[in-house]
Amino acid sequence: MTVRLGDIAPDFTAPTTQGEIKFHDWLGDSWGVLFSHPKDFTPVCTTELGYVAKIKPEFDKRNVKVIGLSVDSVESHEKWEADIGETQGTPVNFPMIGDPDRKVADLYDMIHPNANDTLTVRSVFVIGPDKKVKLTITYPASTGRNFDEILRVIDSLQLTAKYKVATPVNWKDGNDVIIGSAVTNEEAEKLFPQGWTTVKPYLRVLPQPK
Ligand code: BEZ
Repeated sequence: MTVRLGDIAPDFTAPTTQGEIKFHDWLGDSWGVLFSHPKDFTPVCTTELGYVAKIKPEFDKRNVKVIGLSVDSVESHEKWEADIGETQGTPVNFPMIGDPDRKVADLYDMIHPNANDTLTVRSVFVIGPDKKVKLTITYPASTGRNFDEILRVIDSLQLTAKYKVATPVNWKDGNDVIIGSAVTNEEAEKLFPQGWTTVKPYLRVLPQPK
């Protein structure tokens, strides 16, 4: 199944390293990041999981729950997590879905047969509190993801969910933002009484609302 932006994230029940979860119930009112790993006991995945464990407080601060998946069993994940703790300096502090029958991987289209017909690609899904998919990213197995970028996008998603703004190229939290193109100047005067800079009629810049 192809999962697209704006779709309701498919719900599922699955075993994890922290017990069985029903995905939507587990998400509750939080944001969520669901990300897949091609296989247990592989080097790139080991570094990714260690890094996500290290920066988990950053996800917590943003009210985001993180959950990993690979098409191996929970028992295998538990053995692998011992290696991750040993080599990456942080125990894995979020659940990992066991998916040996590829139920969740198929539901989220994480197996791309022309890349590899048994392992998942490196998928990332960011899900909002409304359970809708806000971001999808797909990396090949050979390239580790940049989870700082995922935090940056979450900052943009959370800001633009709250204010009628958009974030420009390479934006980071605290930088200037852009008034959304659907917002008329008349509406903008009400929304942003502090004013903005008109670079072009379609490019209106203002400090990030707080
Ligand atoms: C890795 O995590 O290192 C990896 C996994 C599958 C294929 C290639 C690399």
